[in-house]
This record gives sequence, C-alpha cells and structure tokens, in this order.
Amino acid sequence: MQDKDTWSGRFAEPVAELVKRYTASVGFDHKLAMYDIQGSLAHAQMLAACDIISIQDLNDIKRGLGQIENEIISGEFVWSLDLEDVHLNIEKRLTTLVGDAGKRLHTGRSRNDQVATDVRLYLRHETGELLGLIKALQSALLDLATQHTHTIMPGFTHLQVAQPISFAHHLMAYFEMLKRDAERLQDCRKRINRLPLGAAALAGTSYPIKREYVADLLGFDGVCENSLDAVSDRDFAIEFTACAALIMTHLSRFSEELILWMSPRFGFIDIADRFCTGSSIMPQKKNPDVPELVRGKTGRVTGHLVALLTLMKGQPLAYNKDNQEDKEPLFDTVETLTQTLRIYADMITGIKVKPDAMRSAALQGYATATDLADYLVKKGLPFRDAHEAVAQAVRFAEQRGCDLGDISIAELQQFSMHIVEDVYQVLSLEGSLASRNHIGGTAPNQVAAAIVRARASLAK
Ligand code: ARG
Repeated sequence: MQDKDTWSGRFAEPVAELVKRYTASVGFDHKLAMYDIQGSLAHAQMLAACDIISIQDLNDIKRGLGQIENEIISGEFVWSLDLEDVHLNIEKRLTTLVGDAGKRLHTGRSRNDQVATDVRLYLRHETGELLGLIKALQSALLDLATQHTHTIMPGFTHLQVAQPISFAHHLMAYFEMLKRDAERLQDCRKRINRLPLGAAALAGTSYPIKREYVADLLGFDGVCENSLDAVSDRDFAIEFTACAALIMTHLSRFSEELILWMSPRFGFIDIADRFCTGSSIMPQKKNPDVPELVRGKTGRVTGHLVALLTLMKGQPLAYNKDNQEDKEPLFDTVETLTQTLRIYADMITGIKVKPDAMRSAALQGYATATDLADYLVKKGLPFRDAHEAVAQAVRFAEQRGCDLGDISIAELQQFSMHIVEDVYQVLSLEGSLASRNHIGGTAPNQVAAAIVRARASLAK
C-alpha cells in the first residue's frame, strides 16, 4: 500500500493535499512516539496472552517496535505527513519491517483508545517530573527562608505598608501555595492513571481481551469503566492544565513581587545578573526579564486551559476529531511549566537580599500602629476606641514627619492616658514581630518551626 492510499479501500479519490495538511497531527504528536510504542507492546502482549495473535506475531511485533524505537531515538525515522499521525506512521513502518504481524497489531484496538492511552502515559510521566521540580523549588525557598527569619520587611495590604513581617514568613507563603499545587497534581494523577485501551473505537471489541492485564503491564491503577467515556473525555488533561495554570498564577504573583522589590523604589532585593538583561538604548538598565516572562507566560497557560475547556464543550459522545486539538495546548503547558519551575528554583538561589532597605521601608509606614492599638486594648480600652486613639497619634506623627516611636510619652498621652514607658517595646519592629507568636504567625521562632515542618514534609 502506498503512503497516500491509507484510506484507498473506502475512498474513490485521494485526500486533497490541503486537507492532508489540515488534518495531519504528526508534526506535533510525534512527541508521543515512545508512549505509543509502550502502549502497543502491552496491547500485543495481551493479544498473544489471550490467543488472539500468535507468539510468533508477538515476537515479530516486539522486534519491529524495538527497531523503530532505535530509529526514532537516533533521528533516522522518517515521519510522513501522508500517514497523518504518530500512530499510523509507526504502524506503517512496523508492517514494512515485519509484514503481516505488523498488520495484526491493531486487532481489537482503534486509534481512539490508542491516542487516549498515549496522552495519559505522557501526562503521567510529566506529572511525576513536575512534582520533582516543585519540590526543588520549595527546597530553594526553604534555604533562603532559613537565613531570614529575623530579616524584617513591611507586610502589605492594598500595597500599602500594613504590619512588619519577616522576609522568611513572606517566602513561606509561597512554600504553602506550592505545597497545595503539588497535592493537586498528585490528586490529578489518580484520574490520569486509568487505561482507555479496550474501548476500541467507542463500544468495546468483540475479541476476548483482558483490559486489566494491559493496565497492569502499563502501570495504570485500573481501567476506564465506560468505553464511550474512555475514548472521548479529556477531563484529565483539562484538570492537569488547571493545576498548571494555578501553579503559574502563584509564580506570576511571586514574579510581580520580585519585579517590584528589584525596582530601586523598593530596592529590597537584587536578582543575579544571569536572570536579567540590559537595555539596547539605556546603558544603566538591568531588567528582571525572567520574572516578567513568567508573569507573561502565565497568560499563555491560562489560555491553554480555556482552549481545552472550549474544545470539549460542544462535543457529542464519543470520539471526535476535535480532540486532536488537545495536544498542542497540553504539550505547551507542560513545556512552559517545566521550564518555568526549573528556572525559578535557580533564580531563588541567586537572590541577594538587602535587609537595610527592607527595614527602613518597614519603619516608614507606621507599621506598628496595630501593635499600639493592641497595647491599649490590653490596658483595658475597647478596640474601637484604641483604633481611634492610634489613628490620631498617626496623624500627629505624620504632621511632624516622624515615626510613632519618636513621639515622647507626654505627647503620646494626649491620645490616651493608658500609654506609659513600656510602650516603646511595642512600637519596635522586633517587638511587633515577636508578639505574633502562634502557629502561622510571623514571630521568628514560629517561622523557624514552620520551616522545620516544611523540610520534614519535603522528605516524605
Ligand atoms: N490523531 C488523532 C488524535 O489525535 C488520533 C485518533 C484518530 N481517530 C480517528 N477516528 N480519526 O485524536
């Protein structure tokens, strides 16, 4: 059979060139080749175990697929557009290499359950890799946090100075986000790891197959229970992409902060030169390109999520060619997330912290005003009255252009007679931090304990 005549049995004329190019997926789905071979080997083994093909056929198929694998790895394999996709390319080559045994491989199988299996094998593998990369980034965050439980910076709400926190505490917020991200991926993996093979085109097959046997061989946790669902739904890919979009969203927020912190207006950190570029016109510039691109690429991954959801929404059961469009968004999601996580872990290691700038920023925005209010409450004032008294004190300080800690006792007493000498402990940044001494608080000993727990969780 000539390449161009794949459907010659049924069709009166060859497929138009333009249509061939429009419908072919081999240009991108060749990425699934190794999983396609893995799936075919397991399928063939089952066919032989169930006496559907002979042992001789099985051995020929194994030999042929082994050679094809080598040809793909070495780059010798010739991908043909005429053969539409990765599946037909490999099957055709197999038949050329081993004859009739190659033609028997597709017994009891359809490209519909075959491609669904390949995508699941691919995604399972990539999920494992991504989980490792998340861990590496978490570990880099912990290394940096460990050094900064006493490094004080302003915590913000509405991007206005709110209360003092430690830099370590801030970093640990991202550790927590990534921890949930990893949990989500692990959970998603359970639903990825189900075998579609055996569903055939849509209704199952009349051959006496053993689906559980194939599932075992391929390391799946079980089989997809309904053949129509098995070949048609891509919810596992959508779910994966949602997990990926969320990870990117977290890193985008972090990137936004790194960009702000590196701006001379903040000057809290410096990012190592190898993650920045200069300007072609302004010689003084050092731009945080990597975090900016992470922020930008987040839009792209979110776009892939929307693309996949939209791809699915109008499809009647069971398989439709629309599903071929799942691959490029999915591959690009994996690629983008993989590169982002890899580069991020390295970038965190290269962050230079500027504690003096952080500290002076924390001193500028009346960050201990809440502490003063809490102090008055502890002396017996209702919180709302304390809030009012401190608001007046802040206004006073603002007019004078000084900090709360620079106001004398006599002057502070205009706002409340409950204020005495011990107030200055409360007004210090260190005092403010140390007082938030509960689980989840910014007190240095609490954050240090959180880091210890976090490290233990990574070792699991
Ligand atoms: N290339 C196709 C895809 O990615 C494989 C399945 C084709 N099935 C079919 N009935 N045309 O979805």
